[in-house]
Amino acid sequence: MRDQIVISGVSKTFQTASGPVPALAEINLTVRRREFLTLLGPSGCGKSTLLGIIGGMVTPDGGVVEIDGMKLDRPDPKKVALVFQDPGLFPWRSALENVEFGLELQGVPKTERRRAAQRLLEPVGLKGFEAKYPRELSGGMKQRVAIARALALQSPILLMDEPFGALDEQTRLLMGEWLLKIWATTKTTVVFVTHSLQEAIVLSSRIVVMTARPGRIKALFEVELPYPRDLTAKEATELRAQLWGFIREESLQAMEGRV
Ligand SMILES: Nc1ncnc2c1ncn2[C@@H]1O[C@H](COP(=O)(O)OP(=O)(O)OP(=O)(O)O)[C@@H](O)[C@H]1O
Ligand SMILES: [Mg+2]
Repeated sequence: MRDQIVISGVSKTFQTASGPVPALAEINLTVRRREFLTLLGPSGCGKSTLLGIIGGMVTPDGGVVEIDGMKLDRPDPKKVALVFQDPGLFPWRSALENVEFGLELQGVPKTERRRAAQRLLEPVGLKGFEAKYPRELSGGMKQRVAIARALALQSPILLMDEPFGALDEQTRLLMGEWLLKIWATTKTTVVFVTHSLQEAIVLSSRIVVMTARPGRIKALFEVELPYPRDLTAKEATELRAQLWGFIREESLQAMEGRV
């Protein structure tokens, strides 16, 4: 019973004004409870679509996704929380009020949700910034508020779509280290999307490489290196070379329009 998310034969084609766009084809994948699974693949291969299907925001044309044996046909924070590349904070709410948002929707009383939000801002390094508005925070801080807001829901699964994609490299490395700590303490299952091979190797317990559109699973890697990961270790550089081999091939296909 280690599998938490079971994706069976999932496909998706978008109907657009210029014709059908096949985004995903026959995806079969299981996500284990409490693992950190990363999706890598060329731009447009359907990574965000797959996250959308797992989160119940996008309906597949074929196949089924089950979370703990149940189909999810609409977003449900009791099962899944989401973080996107754009933190999407409410500009008129302070950091604390942003973190409180989901709890407010769930009808959690004010003092209780305030306490919960305060507790979450501390481990994300934002103690003392509770009253600041998004415009007063740096990019990394805003993204940490967005992650705290998602964590406040205490969903067993966290879907993260290039959450650090808009940050500079140093901030990104630090955010990765921080996320690993959060993952270790909250025991959340994370499904993560990135374009960075380095980020994937530093963070993931498994890495899935997808093909160019329509996305299929091309390869799956177990990353057995101990945390914190040393990117200069022989195994890490070998893994990077292997990953790059696959991604390069698929990205070239996508760029040359052969798919
Ligand atoms: N709502 C939509 N309507 C029409 N086409 C869509 C829609 N969403 C995605 N697509 C198309 O489906 C394909 C997969 O898109 P998706 O956003 O899942 O890719 P991605 O792997 O996340 O790409 P990126 O790495 O650039 O974020 C693309 O060709 C995209 O244009
Ligand atoms: Mg995407």
